[in-house]
Amino acid sequence: MTEGTALRRTTPVAVNSSSDQFSVGGLEAWYGESHVLHGVDFEVKRGEVVTLLGRNGAGKTTTLKSIMGLIGRRRGSVRFEGSELIAAKPDKIARMGIAYCPEERGIFSSLTVDENFLLPPIVRKGGMSVDDIYELFPNIKGRGASQGTKLSGGEQQMLAIARILRTGANFLMLDEPTEGIAPVIIQQIGRTIQRLKEKNFTILLVEQNFRFAAGIADRHYVMDQGRVIDEFSNDELHKNMAKVKAYLGV
Ligand SMILES: Nc1ncnc2c1ncn2[C@@H]1O[C@H](COP(=O)(O)OP(=O)(O)OP(=O)(O)O)[C@@H](O)[C@H]1O
Ligand SMILES: [Mg+2]
Repeated sequence: MTEGTALRRTTPVAVNSSSDQFSVGGLEAWYGESHVLHGVDFEVKRGEVVTLLGRNGAGKTTTLKSIMGLIGRRRGSVRFEGSELIAAKPDKIARMGIAYCPEERGIFSSLTVDENFLLPPIVRKGGMSVDDIYELFPNIKGRGASQGTKLSGGEQQMLAIARILRTGANFLMLDEPTEGIAPVIIQQIGRTIQRLKEKNFTILLVEQNFRFAAGIADRHYVMDQGRVIDEFSNDELHKNMAKVKAYLGV
């Protein structure tokens, strides 16, 4: 799609309005010479669950990595709790309270469940206690001495989410937590995300499974070719299902 024909959202984004905990404006990113994000705009209010939907290659993962400072070259604005983070390094971004759970989960095979769990440093006050986290994730309770990779895919995903809750982060970015996971575990992850929302975490969720997303999110942004091209409240999603399916190619 060329610049001139790019789909435009009908609703303008109120970047940096006072209720926004987090906003991205005009975010561009490059892998080497390859220009991948072309001006991504969206915002997330405190306590919201917001999804980024979009086809393979739309730029969802790159958006999360860019927010976390993990892309060499980026431009635009990433604002969190009143601070501009576009020039900040990943460790500073983490200390601000932003946590990233990558699609590949990052469970270390040579470490036990407990060692994986305790690996990320505490970056801020207010993190959940180990007992509270195990209460949220009963599947991994008591598995502490197992090798991380002895867990099922779903259990590894839960461990990957569990370990960022200790750190004190209050803004969680989860990249496709349901990918390759059995339906019963997907439901558990959905319930866990709802409970984290009740505990006042703000969650930015990348998903291709929009049925899962529709069950837990407040709002949805659709990405295509390195831009946000549309947005829906969760209530609007059903009446726009044909449009959403066309966007996602499903
Ligand atoms: N390390 C990289 N080097 C070069 N190009 C990359 C790299 N990672 C991703 N890309 C390209 O950037 C674009 C956006 O990729 P990204 O991974 O952000 O998409 P995505 O929306 O997360 O897709 P998926 O749904 O498949 O996970 C794609 O064209 C992809 O090929
Ligand atoms: Mg991705």
